[in-house]
This record gives sequence, C-alpha cells and structure tokens, in this order.
Amino acid sequence: MLGFAESGPKGGAMMDSFELSKIAGAVLAALLLIVGPKTVIDIWRSGHGADKPGYTLPVPGDAPTEAATVAVPAQPAGFDPASVVAALGAADPENGKGLFRKCGACHSAAQGAATKAGPNLWGVVGRPKGSLEFGYSAAMKEKGGEWSYADLASFLYKPKGFVKGTKMIFPGVKDSTELADLIAYMRTLADTPAPLPN
Ligand code: HEC
Repeated sequence: MLGFAESGPKGGAMMDSFELSKIAGAVLAALLLIVGPKTVIDIWRSGHGADKPGYTLPVPGDAPTEAATVAVPAQPAGFDPASVVAALGAADPENGKGLFRKCGACHSAAQGAATKAGPNLWGVVGRPKGSLEFGYSAAMKEKGGEWSYADLASFLYKPKGFVKGTKMIFPGVKDSTELADLIAYMRTLADTPAPLPN
C-alpha cells in the first residue's frame, strides 16, 4: 500500500517529463522546419552565386596570372580614350564590321546568339560590365559600371591594362581609327543604338 502510494507522485513526475520531452520534440521539429530549408537554400545559393555551380576549387594557374597582370601598366601614356570617343561620329561602322571578324572567333554579335568562348556582344554598349549568364573572370565582375564608349575604347585598346586579370586573351587594337570604327559597329548591335557623343 505504501509502495503504491509512493508510486503515485513518482508516476506523475514521469508523466510530466514525458510531456516535456514531447513539447521539446515539437519545438525541435518546428525549428528544423524553419532552419532546414533556409540552410538548403543557403547552400544552393552559395553554389549558384559563385563563378560556377558547386564549389570553386583554386586553380593552380590563377595566382601567377594575377601577379603577371598586375605588372602591366594601367594605361600606357599616349593613349587617350576620349580621342576615340570624339572620332565616333565620323567613324565607319562598315569597316568596323570587317574588323569585328577577329572578335567573332570568341564573340557572337546577333541578338540571342549562342555564347562562344566570350559573352554575346549584342547590346553591349551601355550594358553593365560582366552582366550576362557567362563565366566571367572575378576581375570583370568586380570592375563595375557600364560599357561606355570610353571604357570600351580603353578595354579594346589593351584588355589586360583596363581589366587586370581578364579572361579575354586578346592583345588589343592599337590604331585609334580602327578602334573608333570597331566601336561604331558595336554600337549598331542594338534595337536602339546608344546616342553618339556630341
Ligand atoms: C580569344 C577569345 C576572344 C577574342 C578574340 C576577343 N574576346 Fe572579348 N572576351 C573574351 C572573353 C573570354 C571575355 C570575358 C572576359 C572576362 O570575364 O574577364 C570577353 C569579354 C569582352 C567584353 C566584355 C563583355 C561583357 O559582357 O562585359 C567585350 C566588350 C569584348 N570582350 C569585346 C571584344 C571585341 C570587340 C573583340 C575584338 C576586337 C574581342 N572581344 C575579342 C574573349 C575574346
């Protein structure tokens, strides 16, 4: 009798802790429901926000390339992008179209055309730099701003001088008249070409 009387309160205590663990379990389950999907989304985003889906492994060639391009002078004296921009009004886009053939190995120019080794260049004038679905270099993605005429001139004159660490393996177009013709042609790659500078 005594033992039974004792078991009463004990049993009650056991029930309480059982109830408590049920509540704790429910709370944990709720937390998992909230935190779980968020974690999955975070993992997904960290993969898709990066250069390539998944984890970006360090490429052995990366560091030396960075070091080598840092040594290139930013803008050799004597080149003035403003003079190229000023020449655009009188430039010859037809000649530029011919010059664009050397770009065509890596760049498509038609609207919606497939990506080659480089990004599609339809509508590139005024477009934010490094903004297409393309595996740009970190240097290009971090450059910032839009492709103004002046920035195109500087980049196409010496790609690695303007975007240090660019993936574009191209020495550049050194002739200012050819540069103006080329950019005048690139300007036509749009439904509504950007206005020419006055
Ligand atoms: C050997 C291949 C190759 C050649 C030739 C080449 N490009 Fe590129 N170009 C690239 C690659 C790759 C990128 C991406 C660069 C990066 O992410 O750093 C690029 C990027 C660009 C961009 C930036 C586009 C953007 O979406 O921000 C422009 C503009 C451009 N190229 C113009 C030209 C022009 C004009 C020529 C010819 C005079 C040319 N390229 C020749 C491979 C090439």
